[in-house]
Amino acid sequence: ANDGLAPTPPMGWNSWNKFACNGINETLIKQTADALVSSGLAAVGYVNLTLDDCWSAATRDSSGNLRADPNKFPSGMKAIGDYIHSKGLKYGIYASIGTATCTGKTPGSMDHENQDVAKFASWGVDYIKADRCNVPTGADLAELFGRWLPAIRASGRPIVLSASDNGGVQEPWSWGPYAAHQWRTTGDIRDNWARVLSVFDGNARFPGATVPGGFNDPDMLEIGNGGLTDTEYRSHMGLWALVSSPLIAGNDVRSMSSATKAILTHPEVLDIDQDALAYQAIKAADDGAGRQVWYKPTRQRGARAVGLFNRGDSTATISVSWSQIGLSAGSATVRDVWARADRGTFTNAYSVNVPAHGLALLRIVGTDPPLVSGYLSDQPWAYS
Ligand code: GLA
Repeated sequence: ANDGLAPTPPMGWNSWNKFACNGINETLIKQTADALVSSGLAAVGYVNLTLDDCWSAATRDSSGNLRADPNKFPSGMKAIGDYIHSKGLKYGIYASIGTATCTGKTPGSMDHENQDVAKFASWGVDYIKADRCNVPTGADLAELFGRWLPAIRASGRPIVLSASDNGGVQEPWSWGPYAAHQWRTTGDIRDNWARVLSVFDGNARFPGATVPGGFNDPDMLEIGNGGLTDTEYRSHMGLWALVSSPLIAGNDVRSMSSATKAILTHPEVLDIDQDALAYQAIKAADDGAGRQVWYKPTRQRGARAVGLFNRGDSTATISVSWSQIGLSAGSATVRDVWARADRGTFTNAYSVNVPAHGLALLRIVGTDPPLVSGYLSDQPWAYS
């Protein structure tokens, strides 16, 4: 939604990927808030701390309001929000657009959207993940998700809306840009390589939907959860950055390794994700044997963020030519983003060895494309 709440992809942490239904409680959330700050993750942008499914009681209260599970959140949902805010973080909460949440254990918000959003606003919620589960057969998701932003406006609180159309059914890119700030395009991610690849590919179907204000969402990060190698986690992070995905960490930030922290907080990778143009990278080349080139323009004129992706099971040499990424022939500079090292100036193309399942992440800056004679060529470019 073009309302200024999400000019670049939202960043944060969510309880689901690591802790699912049973692990979420007041202690975990407070310790996570502390760790987001002490680890430095918050300082680089991971500020939306979201409580996923299973925070609420199995039934509404006598006034029909959602309420905390008293065993998990004995101090209540306003108190946990106050704690999150006391750390300088933003408070995210999970809901369902259907009659129950995705575990089926707690109430959904269908036909209670205004009441529930008003309640969330009274607790200080800043970010809502509205999930798609237990919706009536034949329901129109554009209509059901479309109830939420008006409810948010009515609440008077600026709240970012994550439309979790898990499964990516009913073409989320056809309503997501109007209805939300991010919209899931695929089934759930899992902490295994095949699944990371499949959600990445599923998210590539309509790259044009991603613009400043709203983003295709290939789901939350699994980095640090143990099912991938660090090389694979770097690829996961780099690919999500290339496609301007929301970056929602899903690991235990209280005990992460230094490698995990370095992947999540790499400043130049985050710059690619948070680039103000918010383009979703597209595939420029694919040799059919697992070697792919992905790229997007970034805000600096003549600059490209480029991923040379080796999906194969052994080291491969991957090349990118300037013409594949929309640059003029001639010289261009190449920077290795993960290494934070300039590789030099190259003519027309660049090649590098990429390990199995690795992603060489590059910044390539070419010669400014020539202005087209007679077509705005007398206008000074207004870049700053
Ligand atoms: C769905 C979502 C997940 C998570 C669970 C919670 O599967 O896609 O991200 O929120 O529901 O039950």
